[in-house]
Amino acid sequence: MTVTPAYHKAWRVMVGLIVAGLALAGCAGLPTGKPDTAVRRGHDVALAACANCHNVDGTGPGPKDQAPGFSDHGFLHTVALPGRLTVLIRKGHYVMPSQSLTAAQIDDLRAYIERNAKAE
Ligand code: HEC
Repeated sequence: MTVTPAYHKAWRVMVGLIVAGLALAGCAGLPTGKPDTAVRRGHDVALAACANCHNVDGTGPGPKDQAPGFSDHGFLHTVALPGRLTVLIRKGHYVMPSQSLTAAQIDDLRAYIERNAKAE
């Protein structure tokens, strides 16, 4: 296939649009594709399952044994590791006993954590 100038131009426009879209999505406060309802449900899950020990609304230690805040870098790093969040919840961690949250609840929780991280 020969690359015509027209094709070249269309490609450049497309790449430009993608870059502009990513830049917009990166701005705090703009929708990032996760429905707000998932974020709200995730906040409820966090309050019910995590807030006894963690500060689920920001940075800094929570009420229990230096449990990290949900916006702390170390916490976010751990949560970003594939599968880690599910394991920590289902197997328990430190003083936290195993909790049987559903996959949907964990997805909501992740949506909340991601939104919370962007809001900092
Ligand atoms: C009974 C108390 C308790 C509850 C409830 C609890 N945690 Fe924790 N969590 C801790 C403590 C304590 C630490 C770490 C303390 C330390 O680093 O010494 C921790 C650490 C973590 C970490 C960081 C792990 C790491 O790699 O260091 C993540 C992620 C985490 N908790 C997620 C959650 C989530 C999500 C929930 C709710 C589903 C939850 N925790 C509920 C006590 C709790």
